Amino acid sequence: MDLKTTYLGMDLKHPVVASAGPLSATLDGIKRLEDGGAAAVVLFSLFEEQIRYENESFDYLIDQGADRFAESLSYFPAVEDYHVGPEKYLNLVRQASESCDIPIIGSLNGISDKGWTEYAKDIQSAGARALELNIFYIPADISLSGREVEERYLQVVRKVKGAVAIPVAVKMSPFFSSIGEMARRFVDDGADGLVLFNRFYQPDFDLDALEVMPNLELSAPSEIRLPLLWIAVLHGRLNCSLAATRGVQTGTEVVKYLMAGADAVMTTSALLRHGAGYAKTLVDDLERWMERRDYASVAQMKGSMSQQKVADPSAFERANYIKVLESYKTPYLV
Ligand SMILES: Cc1cc2nc3c(=O)[nH]c(=O)nc-3n(C[C@H](O)[C@H](O)[C@H](O)COP(=O)(O)O)c2cc1C
Repeated sequence: MDLKTTYLGMDLKHPVVASAGPLSATLDGIKRLEDGGAAAVVLFSLFEEQIRYENESFDYLIDQGADRFAESLSYFPAVEDYHVGPEKYLNLVRQASESCDIPIIGSLNGISDKGWTEYAKDIQSAGARALELNIFYIPADISLSGREVEERYLQVVRKVKGAVAIPVAVKMSPFFSSIGEMARRFVDDGADGLVLFNRFYQPDFDLDALEVMPNLELSAPSEIRLPLLWIAVLHGRLNCSLAATRGVQTGTEVVKYLMAGADAVMTTSALLRHGAGYAKTLVDDLERWMERRDYASVAQMKGSMSQQKVADPSAFERANYIKVLESYKTPYLV
């Protein structure tokens, strides 16, 4: 059984990759992910806010007496608790790259094109084999046009690509009017891979305290649908790697993502639920499925249910919509 795949130009022994999350917060955690069977590890993100926070603190130290430090603290109240500044992050990348045999992928999370993008170069120098960019932006300013928002994303990609030689993947938002065109523009502007999709942590309301509260829930398998659709549509149409992230809980989701056309399938929630060793369970599940269905290699599976390959490509589009609605059955409908 040949499980090998290529992601961002890197040869991986199989497609199951640990996506950015808390399990990679320590060297011990990263080693457990490697021992647990992950083919590569994307480290948790270094956030633009952390970098700015550290820089503001540094400015204060060389500019004693100014009010700016107190001010800057109030800008980033939550960031104080992260405890992972750029130096610690770069050290972790360095140690992990030196002591692991699997590729270590750094992750930068931000939105402006100033200051923080230089850390891409440092992450490369620390030994990361590739870099994932999580560009997370809520355009709450309702005067901003879609094109302006898109340009912000693209500017970051161009800036980072101009700074590093290692491959760069963009962890994409699903909230663009034309996801396909935006994917193409990311690739035109230098992205070597796309990770579909970023999962935003949308706030909830606490109705007792009448406060807006953060809400982080681990994913469910039904969440694969949106990335699955777009990986199937984009497969074979772009000159870049595709990775799936969201909703992997068992080998079934891994198989579906590969059949849609993913080069790598990432997981965080499942590893948080079952432990770092669960990557191996996912690979075993995949292997068993391939055996049952007589697939000899992951390459043979990849994209075989993409839009370009299926007998009915309209199944991915509006044409199928009415059929789906009509298929719904309930005893309450008479
Ligand atoms: C607790 C937690 C922390 C995460 N931290 C990051 C992060 O630092 N950077 C990032 O790009 N994604 C982060 N993610 C998102 C995951 O990498 C992943 O894309 C998302 O959880 C969807 O995949 P899943 O369904 O396998 O969990 C985090 C997810 C969780 C649950």
